[in-house]
Amino acid sequence: MEENLRIPGPTPIPPPVAAALARPMINHRGPAFAELLRRVTDHLRFFFQTDQPVLGFPASGTGAMEAAVVNSFSPGDEVLAVTIGVFGNRLAKTAELFGLRVTRMEVPWGQAADPQAVAQRLAELPNARGVLVTHNETSTGVTNDLRAIAQAARAKRSDILLIVDAVSSLGCVDLRMDEWDLDVVFTGSQKGWMVPPGLAMIAASERGWAATARATLPRYYWDFRRARASLEKGQTPYTPPVSIYFGLDVALQMMRDEGREAIFARHQAVADLTRARARALGLRLFAELAHASNTVTALRVPEGGDGKALTKALREREGVVIAGGQERLEGQILRIGHLGYVHEADITACMDALERQLVAVGYSLPVGSSGLARGE
Ligand SMILES: Cc1ncc(COP(=O)(O)O)c(C=O)c1O
Repeated sequence: MEENLRIPGPTPIPPPVAAALARPMINHRGPAFAELLRRVTDHLRFFFQTDQPVLGFPASGTGAMEAAVVNSFSPGDEVLAVTIGVFGNRLAKTAELFGLRVTRMEVPWGQAADPQAVAQRLAELPNARGVLVTHNETSTGVTNDLRAIAQAARAKRSDILLIVDAVSSLGCVDLRMDEWDLDVVFTGSQKGWMVPPGLAMIAASERGWAATARATLPRYYWDFRRARASLEKGQTPYTPPVSIYFGLDVALQMMRDEGREAIFARHQAVADLTRARARALGLRLFAELAHASNTVTALRVPEGGDGKALTKALREREGVVIAGGQERLEGQILRIGHLGYVHEADITACMDALERQLVAVGYSLPVGSSGLARGE
């Protein structure tokens, strides 16, 4: 039985991408790779909604976090880290480890950051050089109103550097890097891009590039300048994950064929379906509804329920793989990924399975709530 992989990354791979991943190797310093890299970069710029080059580093998303920090700042620089969960904390921690002076603005998990509150905190830090913010917090299933946060921060401090973790949002929900005046934006291949893990993609604004030139934190592998110089020659500074690029080339063409707005609408539709089915089962969203994510849904484990046992039963009996909670949310929430190569049928199958396994452990459904009974 093929698994219904419903974790928020790695995500399923469409068959044409899987076929591309099996292609024979080519010379990464030859003309065929240069041509492919040009195509991929053009498509990525379209999805980042930027005129800037999009750089690729062989890495997971966490590598991109480190790249963003070391290319933008110097030891002792002050930054405001807006954190709404595990990944916001990770970015803040990365900045601290590199010697930045980090003021954390911690928002209760399940909530989004209030843009005006961010601006207020920034106003209290007249020497701050940057704001670190997560667009979509995968650990809680919350999407920040990035546009409003960027606008509010910029209104307070026109020169502030906005560093955005878009690992689990880009390519799935709207993010307009240039229009929203974001400075460093990064994502990871295993999330919304329909390819396996292995490639971090990252872009910097003109302000970001100026910061890169000024920054004194040491960097070799992550140096944006080195990556940009290579990109201009149709190459990468170090050996690229060639197979991931083969897959990404196909995936991005599929995404262009579908259309950016259509992709956003599909993510909205699958997220709406997930939330509606959860509500019908009497399950409560962990996130506040107004900011519930369109790429991952976090649900509270029902009172007295065992989240781990439920996840195990789904995997073993139904072939449906979902995620649990991280850190202090372990055992308390279930997370269902719906990003990248996902359609309504995948969610229906997942929620049908969840309903069966809830019933199997004696959970009583709200009267008349079964999606199964209604054939939804
Ligand atoms: C929002 C966010 N940031 C960063 C990361 C870290 O990425 P990785 O696990 O690829 O290092 C993740 C991974 O789930 C994420 O969801």
